[in-house]
Amino acid sequence: MLKLGVNIDHVATLRQARYRGLDAGEPDPVAAALAAEDAGAHGITAHLREDRRHIVDRDVRRLRESIRTRLNFEMAVAPEIIGFALEVRPDIVCLVPEHRQEVTTEGGLDVAGNPAALAVVCRRFADAGIEVSLFVDPDPVQIEASARTGARFVELHTGAYAGQFGRKRERNVEIERLVAAAKQAHGLGLRVNAGHGLTVANVPLLHVVPHLVELNIGHTLVSRAVFVGLPQAVREMLAAMAGYSG
Ligand code: PXP
Repeated sequence: MLKLGVNIDHVATLRQARYRGLDAGEPDPVAAALAAEDAGAHGITAHLREDRRHIVDRDVRRLRESIRTRLNFEMAVAPEIIGFALEVRPDIVCLVPEHRQEVTTEGGLDVAGNPAALAVVCRRFADAGIEVSLFVDPDPVQIEASARTGARFVELHTGAYAGQFGRKRERNVEIERLVAAAKQAHGLGLRVNAGHGLTVANVPLLHVVPHLVELNIGHTLVSRAVFVGLPQAVREMLAAMAGYSG
């Protein structure tokens, strides 16, 4: 069964729009995580960015104490954040590139450009009993390099697919890239997640991508929640994912 990891970053974005710098405020991302779990989410994802623009340290500690499913901690490969992750001990870390000026995570990690450094980081997390996922573009060079780092998972960046969804020919090219990347990763012994830009509209076509374990989805769920509530938004997404045969 294809699992849904709910990214609650943008619940915190809304809170920070009014309560930045204060200890509490609404909406509470931890309450959102618990509501998502009650609605059937299989995991919760949070990205502690170096600029703390949405999720803050306290949120991650509270998530670690409160949630009943798995905590997927998205993070840049930065010493301060690595230290924090080793202290808080999420179930899995997803290593992502991070740039201050970007609106959201723009591309995949350049694993092929930094294989030795990433292997050291993967080893530190593995020694601490924390699984590692590498957020990569569906690019054979990056997948091949990922397999040599010791990471357990890759998360395939679906942003290009989502961006081309309205153009049939370009969209099909992106689907083929995702299919090939998933097969390659699986063949190399990696487990395969996917995420970024996914919606109820574009998830059904992803059913042709084999070997997927989990989709990590955030922005669309929080957007839809404004109108129907988060539990309903999560249930709609689970319905779009149902029937995936792997
Ligand atoms: N996966 C990763 C690695 C991400 O960086 C993000 C965005 O924070 C997501 C999934 C979720 O993307 P979206 O908010 O577009 O659903």
